[in-house]
Amino acid sequence: MNSLTTATLLKWDAQHYGTGFAHVDDQHHELFDGLNSLTLFLQNASAANDPENQDKVIELLYFLGEYVIRHFQEEEEIFAKCGHPLADANKEAHQVFYEKYFEYNDKLISGTFSLELLQQLHSFLHSWLINHILKIDMTLHEYAEKSGIDCRSSAGKKGVFAKFLALFQMK
Ligand SMILES: [Fe+2]
Ligand SMILES: [Fe+2]
Repeated sequence: MNSLTTATLLKWDAQHYGTGFAHVDDQHHELFDGLNSLTLFLQNASAANDPENQDKVIELLYFLGEYVIRHFQEEEEIFAKCGHPLADANKEAHQVFYEKYFEYNDKLISGTFSLELLQQLHSFLHSWLINHILKIDMTLHEYAEKSGIDCRSSAGKKGVFAKFLALFQMK
């Protein structure tokens, strides 16, 4: 395989990535699917060089950006309601992410499509997401029971990235 990325697909596992809040976990699981869609796209050179697929990947990036915005807002509300000492740090990390993500996105959308740039964005997304969940989001755990929030109420995993996963898996 003429692989453009060596990254492996992320497997959601509550044991390793769970925050104790089902709502947040469902959204993180969706984000894994979004990132995995991008990994699949980049793992297949023939798919990645097809202009029709490149349009689809731009659609995926747009979709992912929208989903991330919603997730960050909802997660920040939970941090605030818990009175979590890292609430501001979480918010600031999200802000840094936004700026970087949309900087990449703008370049990819407005200019000529660049696989190199997409690979850079992929590496950034991959390391940022894992690091952020492990270092900040998972600290929510100790607040799950004492927060008074129903931490079992779920966003319900809806498979929002299923169409992209299917699309890039089959190529
Ligand atoms: Fe976060
Ligand atoms: Fe998060």
